Amino acid sequence: MRYLITSALPYANGPLHIGHIAGAYLPADIFNRYLRLRGHETLFLCGSDEHGVAITLRAWQEKRTPQSIIDEYHPLLENSLRAIGIQMDYYGRTSDPLHHQVAQHFFLRLLEKGLLEEREVIQFWDPQAHTFLPDRYIVGTCPHCGYEEAYGDQCEKCGALLSPTELNNPRSRLSGAEPEKRPSRQYYFRLDLLQPQLEAYVQSREWKPNVRPVIESWLRAGLAPRAITRDLDWGVPLPLSNMQGKVLYVWFEAPLGYISIAQRWAMQTQDPQKWEIYWKNPETRIVHFIGKDNIVFHTLIFPAILLGVEEGYTLPYAVPANEFLNLEGRKISTSRQWSIDIHRYVAEAPERIDELRYVLTALMPQSQDRDFTWEEYVGKINNELIATLTNLIHRILTFLWRMGPTHSVSPHPSLIQWRREAAQEVGQRIESYDFSGALNTILSLAQKANKSLTESAPWNQESQKAREIVAGYGDLLAALGTLLEPFLPLKVAPTLRKTLDIPLFSWAKLESPLPLIDTLHLREAPTPLVTRVSPQEVERWRKALLPSPAPSSLGTFISIEDFEKIRLKVVTILNAETVPKANKLLKLTIQAEDGIHTVVSGVAQFYTPDMLIGKQAIWVANLSPRTIKGIQSEGMLLFSEGENGTLVRVAPEKPVPPGSIVR
Ligand code: 2FM
Ligand code: ZN
Repeated sequence: MRYLITSALPYANGPLHIGHIAGAYLPADIFNRYLRLRGHETLFLCGSDEHGVAITLRAWQEKRTPQSIIDEYHPLLENSLRAIGIQMDYYGRTSDPLHHQVAQHFFLRLLEKGLLEEREVIQFWDPQAHTFLPDRYIVGTCPHCGYEEAYGDQCEKCGALLSPTELNNPRSRLSGAEPEKRPSRQYYFRLDLLQPQLEAYVQSREWKPNVRPVIESWLRAGLAPRAITRDLDWGVPLPLSNMQGKVLYVWFEAPLGYISIAQRWAMQTQDPQKWEIYWKNPETRIVHFIGKDNIVFHTLIFPAILLGVEEGYTLPYAVPANEFLNLEGRKISTSRQWSIDIHRYVAEAPERIDELRYVLTALMPQSQDRDFTWEEYVGKINNELIATLTNLIHRILTFLWRMGPTHSVSPHPSLIQWRREAAQEVGQRIESYDFSGALNTILSLAQKANKSLTESAPWNQESQKAREIVAGYGDLLAALGTLLEPFLPLKVAPTLRKTLDIPLFSWAKLESPLPLIDTLHLREAPTPLVTRVSPQEVERWRKALLPSPAPSSLGTFISIEDFEKIRLKVVTILNAETVPKANKLLKLTIQAEDGIHTVVSGVAQFYTPDMLIGKQAIWVANLSPRTIKGIQSEGMLLFSEGENGTLVRVAPEKPVPPGSIVR
């Protein structure tokens, strides 16, 4: 069988974290490595998703170009994936001109097929930033769940897909201004015309239990035409001369990256047409590994595009989406500094990559969200991986090594049977995308072997007999050198094979009744494959990987009620004067809604009175009054720390009536 395996193309605007890996990259890698050992032909592709508003938004905020952002993150993403052993055959990028050509071709083909419709739509315009606002640039209150930071295209709290007009209290993420509505022309993809074909497609495939309901609810609601163009200057330009300043919607073109990246890969081989055996051959199984937020795009919209162009593209065979991995009970977010980013983990713990793969496989959110905690990380490694698996290996090898480097192996028939059954079960589980289950099967095998070794008590036998018993487990160790390869390919499986001087076996061989080896030859004294993780080691990473201001370094959180106890108001500074014999202080007279107040501020080194008179500031109104240098000071004005120890006045962005509440 031939497989094309893909993992979601990560946005090139931030690093990859453990949630991404457990969601879409590690399962694809395990699947790919296993299929190859099974003898299937596979191609594993990925690449950076380099368009989309998240990138332009970030560029705007950081006053950089989108190009400089993608050029920074594209290599970081690829290096992170390769560092944790994600064995992709090619890692491409959607800014590749070839990708632009492919995406433009698909657009024109759909136009030709009558599947695109031009419509005049009302869009949001940012009157301060002077630009149309893509849906993602607008935030407001979700009409379904009341979440106040919902995006114009989707509420991240309840998952509802939205359009910006549905939001209450909409605001621009660029300027904070209330957006204006203006007309613009866009192309809509007539998904409604393709619904019958999509229904037939959905019926023809098997879907994971967490995926099927999502697809069905969309189909039940009826597919509606969807805008696939945007007013933006970053992305794949529309290939039409009368449509300047518009690009293809990122979710229209990004999945086409799976095709353009296959083409780019083929160009590097001797055979530039080779991509077609993956994309235009119904015999090939195309499997897309993604996170749950990508389901609809991969199971309905992308297949609709492939069907719509009528060019003989193969439709996805499976889309084994995973749910989300949280970190210590909270949603992972690099920007909110609540994350374990892969490039940083790799830098901190380069010897512990297989350990991370082990834990992320064990905690893989296959059917529901799961939680990563450092406590579980330690527990899984010390009490499972080491206690059950690598200790068994080490016990056997140490025993044998003491008696010499070479031993003949004649395994007990039940050991061969266990190995065969385990290999079959691991295979079945991987093929049904149950990766943590597959790992459990290997653990159970090790548990059984541990128990039987203990029961046969070789240490009570005379040495020749003892040696025969223990060497009988050599077949199992040889099997583990291959069984563990999809999961722990960087250290554990290769070191075991090297120590035993054995090759990778085919999966078929693991399932066969024939012994894998007849002699066990130890090349060198065995060393433990994995060493225990100490609490100190974890504490060191935890600190290093969660830079301030991580919640742990913020001290305790306060409740919203606590925050509301603080009365913050905007005031206008009516007068400012120096305070005799106090060269740091200024006496300020301020106007609030209820009258005039006096505040003493320690800012005289940074502000002269005339720099403050007539300006607005933020006032902590209900701070207990204090007497400073004989002056009764009511409350306090807020200043931010500036560069080189200076203080900088904090004020509203534009003048507001004195006394306006700040919250
Ligand atoms: O959700 C994401 O991170 C997207 N960049 C995934 C895109 S997958 C494919 F469609 F390109
Ligand atoms: Zn909501």
